[in-house]
Amino acid sequence: MTAVVSPRSVRLTGWGRYAPAQVLTNADLERIVDTSDEWIVSRTGIRERRVAAAHETSASMGAIAGLRAIRTAGLEPDEIDLILVATLTPDYWMPSTAALVKEAIGNTRAAAFDVAAACSGFVYGYATASAYIGSGLARNVLVVGTELLTRFLDYGDRSTSILFGDGAGAVVLSASDEASSPTGIELTTDPQGAYMIWLPAGGSRSPASADTVARNQHKIRMEGRETYRFATRTLASTGLAAVEKAGWAQADVDLIIPHQANIRIIEAVAKGLDLPLDRFFINVDRYGNTSAASVPIALAEAVNEGRVKPGDKLVFIAFGAGFTSGAVALEWTADPSRGPIGEAAVRPEDVAIRQPVDWDSADPIPPALAEVLARPAPGRMDVSDVAPGDPPHAPRQVG
Ligand code: UT7
Repeated sequence: MTAVVSPRSVRLTGWGRYAPAQVLTNADLERIVDTSDEWIVSRTGIRERRVAAAHETSASMGAIAGLRAIRTAGLEPDEIDLILVATLTPDYWMPSTAALVKEAIGNTRAAAFDVAAACSGFVYGYATASAYIGSGLARNVLVVGTELLTRFLDYGDRSTSILFGDGAGAVVLSASDEASSPTGIELTTDPQGAYMIWLPAGGSRSPASADTVARNQHKIRMEGRETYRFATRTLASTGLAAVEKAGWAQADVDLIIPHQANIRIIEAVAKGLDLPLDRFFINVDRYGNTSAASVPIALAEAVNEGRVKPGDKLVFIAFGAGFTSGAVALEWTADPSRGPIGEAAVRPEDVAIRQPVDWDSADPIPPALAEVLARPAPGRMDVSDVAPGDPPHAPRQVG
């Protein structure tokens, strides 16, 4: 699919993020796998990532980010008529994580479904939301990217376990009576890469069994070099296609919000697009790769840090398992000062996911992670000021 031309004007009106309080540093990972801070920083740019607490899930994090985006947009939850949740780490196979988010944010009327496009999921969700609004099927759409990847990592595999982290971001897209501003959307899928990043068991091809557990087949596997090659080959061309569809030249772009997978990939994209690195928003050092959550978390931080003003030309670009890639070029129209209002309006403890009755699930934290997080960590940074409204820096309690 290559073009989306919206006959009805679509505006991004709300944005929000949520990052769990627990920080896992490269030094922590040195105690789990055979790696070093020096290797991780020089090969990826990652210094630390967040880890969800035992009571948190993709739905709970997504609901906080989503409600913050709704408040930023100045809307009530019931004004949302479609909820799309992009995630590769859903709470359950069924129901959808979107259904759980809908209940948690107090919405009674929206249709809700999940979007499965791995790390490109948020961009795919954005494109879907634009199409719904453009065609008149929806007026206000909540698009959430939320991931709890640390529960799906093999802590015996140093090539994947150092890359990923947890978190959520969201936007609200709304129909507008104002004239349409230029938008360009490009989505690609290349199934040649289907087994370059994958989670082998648990699906219909290989349902969960004692055997699949014994073979460690419920964890993410990745061919890092092939994925890296795909990303550096594809991201610039996908971004450029979206920019051209918006009718811009690439030099017109004010800020690119790239999927935060690896600083070297972002640098390669900057080179491919012939743009300076300061036109890219980068926070991979603090969050690692949060898959579908990475673009909306980065967007919320970019706006709230004053990097975006009305009239700016923005481009979101992402790639991921599938292989998928996607880009959105859009002109910013919202008041950036509303972001902190939305963040402050929603406290994490005010958002809860209803638990099933009489259900006693197992401890969700992988043992290797639980062990390192349980140890004292001298000199750990205080993250309570990173996002107003996030819980205070959690003590190392994971049970
Ligand atoms: O959202 C999409 C998700 N995926 C990605 O974005 C991944 C894209 N790929 C990458 O970012 C990079 O390929 C990695 C960061 C995963 C790996 O970096 P690389 O520069 O491609 O390293 P490599 O796989 O070529 O490995 C180089 C060496 C190997 O050792 P030998 O064979 O040269 O002795 C690895 O065993 O580095 C070793 N290595 C490590 N060493 C220390 C791999 N992982 C680690 C580690 N610590 N964590």
